[in-house]
Amino acid sequence: MTAVRSESAESAETATGAAPAPLRFPPGFIWGAATAAYQIEGAAAEDGRTPSIWDTFSHTPGRVLNGDTGDIAADHYHRFRDDVALMSGLHLGAYRFSVSWSRVQPTGRGPAVQRGLDFYRQLVDELLGRGITPVATLYHWDLPQELENVGGWTVRDTAERFAEYAGIVGGALGDRVPYFTTLNEPWCSAFLGYGSGVHAPGRTDPEAALKAAHHLNLAHGRAVGALRATLPAAAQTSITLNLHQIRPLSATPADLDAARRIDAVGNRVFLDPILSGNYPADLLADTAHLVDWEALVRDGDLAEISRPIDLLGVNYYTPTLVSDGRTHAEGTDLARNDGHGASAYSPWPGSEHVAFHLAPGETTAMRWSVDATGLYDLLMRISREHPELPTMVTENGAAYDDYLSPEGAVNDPQRIAYVHGHLAAVHRALADGADVRGYFLWSLMDNFEWAYGYSKRFGAVYVDFSTQRRIPKRSAHWYAAVARDNVLPDVPEEAGTS
Ligand code: FCB
Repeated sequence: MTAVRSESAESAETATGAAPAPLRFPPGFIWGAATAAYQIEGAAAEDGRTPSIWDTFSHTPGRVLNGDTGDIAADHYHRFRDDVALMSGLHLGAYRFSVSWSRVQPTGRGPAVQRGLDFYRQLVDELLGRGITPVATLYHWDLPQELENVGGWTVRDTAERFAEYAGIVGGALGDRVPYFTTLNEPWCSAFLGYGSGVHAPGRTDPEAALKAAHHLNLAHGRAVGALRATLPAAAQTSITLNLHQIRPLSATPADLDAARRIDAVGNRVFLDPILSGNYPADLLADTAHLVDWEALVRDGDLAEISRPIDLLGVNYYTPTLVSDGRTHAEGTDLARNDGHGASAYSPWPGSEHVAFHLAPGETTAMRWSVDATGLYDLLMRISREHPELPTMVTENGAAYDDYLSPEGAVNDPQRIAYVHGHLAAVHRALADGADVRGYFLWSLMDNFEWAYGYSKRFGAVYVDFSTQRRIPKRSAHWYAAVARDNVLPDVPEEAGTS
């Protein structure tokens, strides 16, 4: 990797917050955008696809804002050729998408449905035809409902089912997809899905959440094995984690302990078994009263979970500010929802007393505070703790209250500023030695934002959901110029109209 000049990065950190000189990225740096199957595809009941837990959840009254579902979403299943053409016009070098498990293997077991696989083959061929590198995620939260009916991620067999599915997809796409990611954000699957219940399947049981976390780890490790058995040697395997950049509200022992606990059940519950082959002792102690870890983790599991991967995907949006809720009774309404939706139940088993706070300053439409140094800190942490492991920013972006002007344009300077700040942070991490291979904007286009339905727009491309018209926002044009030039302009708006 070509070294990035550190003087320019240093100077990007001036008191004004603006980068005074354009920041050039290393040759070969990957510029992409990301989506997920349930959030964009629609065609929920076509070509043999069966319901996933998100179909069931979104069709359950009260679960998703305004009763929105992914039945149609951005209709990408029918419009993928146009969408790939759009990506090409935006100079994207790579596209991160996810495969819908129940489209490929409707019951979560047994033979694959060829029509389901064909959709992804055609998508990949279309991407390759336009010189866009496909990056495939096997699981972005949409477990086949049939598997949930027999226990979902709380049972071990689901890890085995996932490995089988990984082998199927690896066999079908491995000849043309150079990057495979096993799971997207297993923290959300385990702790929002089975802990706070704001995500599918909507369960609220701390023991179930911890079991799910272990079985997701096992699923990842076994899937890496299944992929390795089918993929060409050059293909890269990875997992994407939504690592929490945790900041204690104060330096009191109680607040520092809150930060340690959330690091354990938010980050190290995945990082340690996957990258080091063990569960952190403090996590086991914090949660010993909730789950029987000895029965849960069987001989050989950790060896499977820690199969080598080529790359770590990092998703980052906002830092996590915590305190001991028993000593700071003023903990905000974020205390229990982690910004993904409100619940009376905590997604932090064993650390339910920790309170979450909103940092002062700017926020996005999600009420997530804008703080690019969190991304820098995370990338540097991984680089320090695992110097041999390259990272890729597989998601970063922001929701704002975008609207289509009467002239038919979407002007989103806040998103440009957000992405500019975070790209400057990536550049600074590169300059300081982190091996970051690429950056994927979340998201290519507006989509179904889980419990928030269509009310939150994260896209670079605006979607008019009543007509399915796509309108690139100003930020899309701006990002296209950055991707084309491999250079971040010194001030956010400069590349805006190219
Ligand atoms: C991440 C998810 C992604 C999207 C963004 C905003 O946690 O992976 O699907 O919802 O948040």
